[in-house]
Amino acid sequence: MAKISLPKNSIVGKGRKFTGLKPAARKKEFKIYRWNPDDDANPTTDTYEVDLDSCGRMVLDALIKIKNEIDPTLTFRRSCREGICGSCAMNIDGTNTLACIKPIEEIRSTVRIYPLPHLPVLKDLVPDMTHFYAQYESIKPWIQKQSPPSAGRENLQSVEERSKLDGLYECILCACCSTSCPSYWWNSDRYLGPAILLQAYRWIADSRDEAVGERLDELEDPFRLYRCHTIMNCTNTCPKHLNPGKAIAEIKKLLAIRS
Ligand code: SF4
Ligand code: SF4
Ligand code: FES
Repeated sequence: MAKISLPKNSIVGKGRKFTGLKPAARKKEFKIYRWNPDDDANPTTDTYEVDLDSCGRMVLDALIKIKNEIDPTLTFRRSCREGICGSCAMNIDGTNTLACIKPIEEIRSTVRIYPLPHLPVLKDLVPDMTHFYAQYESIKPWIQKQSPPSAGRENLQSVEERSKLDGLYECILCACCSTSCPSYWWNSDRYLGPAILLQAYRWIADSRDEAVGERLDELEDPFRLYRCHTIMNCTNTCPKHLNPGKAIAEIKKLLAIRS
């Protein structure tokens, strides 16, 4: 997977070190970004030693163990611990991914954990997703339909029509892709980014939707769509193995065909 260079403001000072495990323990070191909005201090990285013999396999297990047993002030988001909710997205070992499905054993040396890059940080590993969700709302992520359902009660799809949503509906809006995209780093005020564009295509590709023309009109913009330069960090990073780069290319193709 592509390693991501972190933004300048993520250069952080040395923090505290939590050690003290018995020598026999199977130790793993975690260096974790810390920042508290209630302190005036700059961000730091704190270092924690974790006994892997009493810890689950995934990075999220280690974070929970650190919070429960070593440092209750450590702050991060998580919910499902199944790779479904998207809330534990963070930068681990230089790659944006989900902490709950990232095995610790895949990281040979110290595990370095930062918040998703290029988003404002609320505290420690928790980014502010307000702008990302506003962009999601802007693409109207629901079926727009004037005509009544064909069978009187339901909006039916054939198996073939439904299959066009495969590779799109699985997106969990974790933002790993958008926050790995250089175009999104520099233009996220106007560029929608790969996650939101994949979602936009999900509704364009839905045979039940009757607003494809309006959806394409909204996207036809030098910034909202065409800031994508096909660098493909997004696709390389997606922890659900989706292909936002391809979804963006499909939107561009539809716009080219109709012009
Ligand atoms: S496309 Fe993948 S990386 Fe991007 S938001 Fe969806 S699940 Fe996350
Ligand atoms: S393909 Fe487009 S959206 Fe994906 S990382 Fe590259 S510029 Fe960003
Ligand atoms: S906790 Fe839900 S995706 Fe990781």
